[in-house]
Amino acid sequence: CGIVGYVGAQDAAPILLEGLGRLEYRGYDSAGLAVAGRGGLKIRKVSGRVADLAADLPARFKGAPGIGHTRWATHGEPSVENAHPHTDTSGRIAVVHNGIIENADELRAKLGADGVEFTSQTDTETVAHLIAAAFAAGAQDLEQAVRQALRQVVGAYGLAVLDAENPDRIVVARNGSPVLLGVGEKEMFVASDVAALVGYTRQVVYLDDGELATLTAGGYRTFTIDDRSTAKSPSTIDWDVVGAEIGDHAHYLVKEIEEQPRTVERTLRGRLDERFQTAHLGGLNLSIREAREFRRVKILGCGSAAYAGELGAQLIEDLARMPATAESASEFRYRNPVVEPDTLYVAVSQSGETVDTLAAVQELQRKGGRVIGVVNVVGSTIARQCDGGIYIHAGPEMSVAATKSFTSTVVAFALLALHLGRIRDLSPTEGRRIIAGLAALPGQIAEIVEQEKRTGWIAETAAELAQRHSVLFIGRRRGCPVAREGAQKFKEVSYVHAEAYASAELKHGPLALVNPELPTVAVVPDDDLLDKNTSTLAEIRARRGPVVAVAHRELPTDLADRTIVIPRNEPELDSILLSVPLQLLAYHAAVALERDVDRPRNLAKSVTVE
Ligand code: G6P
Repeated sequence: CGIVGYVGAQDAAPILLEGLGRLEYRGYDSAGLAVAGRGGLKIRKVSGRVADLAADLPARFKGAPGIGHTRWATHGEPSVENAHPHTDTSGRIAVVHNGIIENADELRAKLGADGVEFTSQTDTETVAHLIAAAFAAGAQDLEQAVRQALRQVVGAYGLAVLDAENPDRIVVARNGSPVLLGVGEKEMFVASDVAALVGYTRQVVYLDDGELATLTAGGYRTFTIDDRSTAKSPSTIDWDVVGAEIGDHAHYLVKEIEEQPRTVERTLRGRLDERFQTAHLGGLNLSIREAREFRRVKILGCGSAAYAGELGAQLIEDLARMPATAESASEFRYRNPVVEPDTLYVAVSQSGETVDTLAAVQELQRKGGRVIGVVNVVGSTIARQCDGGIYIHAGPEMSVAATKSFTSTVVAFALLALHLGRIRDLSPTEGRRIIAGLAALPGQIAEIVEQEKRTGWIAETAAELAQRHSVLFIGRRRGCPVAREGAQKFKEVSYVHAEAYASAELKHGPLALVNPELPTVAVVPDDDLLDKNTSTLAEIRARRGPVVAVAHRELPTDLADRTIVIPRNEPELDSILLSVPLQLLAYHAAVALERDVDRPRNLAKSVTVE
């Protein structure tokens, strides 16, 4: 879900709509706005997209301040009634909220007993009624009413409140769900995600859990639920503003795929040390001595972040010779994990807000674990929660399907592996080899992108795959996480079933499925396992299964119907290049099927609920 708010001299609605448009990738089954206009609050909500909301807005929908929301349903189905903002009975108070109020049922019962009638099934509506009740019980100002209301709330929230009787301000609060303030010239913004502020301001203030803020045109004040003032000064976002603009591209997804030469370069910038053949990672917050004492590495993340982590684990094993494993943060947090003092834990998250990953970090820290983050969004919750880390600097990723954040994360792991390797037993010569490989990546990704623009070969292949019911993706060793990520990308944007398997596991089950109707996309780098990979292809061909190979040279047609040939890097780094054609396959399959490429159904960019 996404929250935006504006207070200042301009009309709020256009600013809110633009901000919501930028947040829509986070969740989007309904949207709504409230502005304080003459004669009270004006509210408009739709079940659908921000564009539907914009189309639905009457010309007289003027005024400021205002708040807005895009929703991804958790409590109650997507509908106009359940869309935010929610109001109290009198229509004085409007609230937008991200997160989950755990004691909502209890609060509803209590408020119901006091005669409150609910108009939605949401947990959020309780907050509006609680604020109204606080005023009825004598609260002196909006801040006090919100504080009193929130004292009764158990759960996670990022919220913004508008009050018809105090039309010069917005009060916001954070507990477990991100809220940041944008500081402008005689105007203030609030958002759940920095992407909403692009084009308006680069000065932001991140609220901490348990913190509230009042925003007026003149500035902001931050305080705690007990009304102790907290001192907060703004920090500057250094993101490239154009990073979030779609430009001439048909979709963000293809824009972000094609941007990878530059985003990988940004991940590398200033970090390659040719003198000592190592990587500089200033944000790790680990002395060489501390870094040397770790014996193992455990990587945690969800979705594409977890697959990038699987590649990261192999890089660390290869280059640093430390045992390293990756696991879904969502599974890890529900086990009773053994937390070891000599394990370096790494949390991976593009958004830095995924609740399962955050919970895993908190659980680790509670048990004394040292956790670093590999994160894209600067200042995000996970980035701040970790003891240090690596920002991947991929810039805003707008498409729900991760692409540039995936490759940049793997590059960040290569840097970490190089750093850990060079303080162990990786030789300077090997260090030099990896550095040269990393430096070559941007140009090679550009080659893949250019080649596709020239030939349309991947698009043509994708259009064929898109006609099938199901596609198998296979790979070995480093190719295995590449296949996993490839299958994930393919299914999430095309809605065609795709499944990934380790090549050698094929004969333990999925080979039973192979027939002329089931194509396999095989990741076949030209490395020491080439023979193994070609014999797997022969097994598939013997069952007349169609094969698309991603390889370093054209495979004979008795092994593959089509080969997508890509440039060769160092074997440890090839996975980054092998991933790019699979991203393009997914993209073009989705286009061929006319899917909602950037916003696949049922998915959200960052999952801040369990
Ligand atoms: C969601 C997104 C995925 C993403 C995952 C983890 O499921 O749809 O694309 O990989 O969350 O997100 P994170 O922001 O933590 O990397």
